[in-house]
Amino acid sequence: MKAVVTGAAGFIGSHLAGSLLADGHDVTAVDCFTDYYPRALKEANLAPLRAQGRFRLVEERLQDAPLARLLEGADLVFHLAAQAGVRASWGREFAHYTEHNVLATQRLLEAALEAGRPRVVYASSSSVYGDAAELPLREDGPCRPVSPYGVTKLAAEHLALLYHRSHGLPTVSLRFFTVYGPRQRPDMAFHRFLKAARDGAAVTVYGDGSQTRDFTYVDDIVSAVRASAFSGRPGCVYNVGGGERVALNDVLGLIEGVTGRRLQVERQEPQKGDMKDTFADTSRAARDLGFRSTVGLAEGLEREWQWIQGAA
Ligand code: NAD
Ligand code: UGA
Repeated sequence: MKAVVTGAAGFIGSHLAGSLLADGHDVTAVDCFTDYYPRALKEANLAPLRAQGRFRLVEERLQDAPLARLLEGADLVFHLAAQAGVRASWGREFAHYTEHNVLATQRLLEAALEAGRPRVVYASSSSVYGDAAELPLREDGPCRPVSPYGVTKLAAEHLALLYHRSHGLPTVSLRFFTVYGPRQRPDMAFHRFLKAARDGAAVTVYGDGSQTRDFTYVDDIVSAVRASAFSGRPGCVYNVGGGERVALNDVLGLIEGVTGRRLQVERQEPQKGDMKDTFADTSRAARDLGFRSTVGLAEGLEREWQWIQGAA
């Protein structure tokens, strides 16, 4: 198969591209190396991919790239490029979120129509839900994002659905729940906490630490994304979560256990844009994609800890 992976220099995209290459597929990666975090980290993500003959990197913004040509002959398009980060999406930064998340997605969907309608898998987010009255979160429940980032992820999800309904483009959206593992973005909690444990620095916890997350190991995300390319129903949305709801305070204890180091904890105000709790109902993904989370939190943290000890 010929696959296009947008955002392939990033955390999740590089794992997905590696998995596709390992199974003998051709991968065209599109990434513009946004400056949200250092290019050196993305180059390290790409190093094992660049070594492979069936990998091609196109360094362009989706907004400017010759997309119809790039997508020509592609069997599958995995759209992971985005301006990520919930808490940074306020104020002037919002312009980046609308450009990279909404405009870029619309341009990609138009190009897919021109290029013979390959299946497009869109990386959506648990942040589309906002603070719900009921847990677990179900795909048919209300979506009221509490961050500008969540608004843009939901807008792009609606675009994917619209291009399916109005133009017959086979699109599938997956709502990822807080993803972690080796190569995790440096703005995310586990990356920061494990690095602080390594360096003997303090960690900052936003709020009282009672917020809960359904943390999902990156390999499980990759399995769901790949399954959705074959058995996801076009026009459908799927939650992908780790299956456990854990409070941030409990994560601190787990990290002390995994690293064998005591964390110095500093508390700060809760951050605007953060959801209080997330927990995915994954029964739809189980039914259609055969999805099942396979890596528990302690094991996944241990793997991220091994990685961070060799990272910058
Ligand atoms: P990441 O920042 O590591 O990767 C995104 C990549 O996209 C970056 O390398 C960036 O340079 C590239 N990019 C951004 N805008 C682009 C554009 N306009 N053109 C070309 N390239 C562009 O982020 P990640 O954590 O790997 O997230 C991947 C996807 O998964 C995103 O769509 C994100 O919204 C979604 N998601 C992530 C999580 C998570 O916990 N990490 C959870 C839910 C959803
Ligand atoms: C993550 C990703 O960063 C988003 O891109 C993604 O869309 C979202 O998951 C999702 O599931 O849709 P988040 O849950 O905020 O967002 O993930 P983390 O950055 O790992 O934060 C987890 C919790 O730790 C949050 O409550 C956050 O406030 C807290 N945190 C984070 C801290 O207390 N201190 C920090 O230094 C960082």
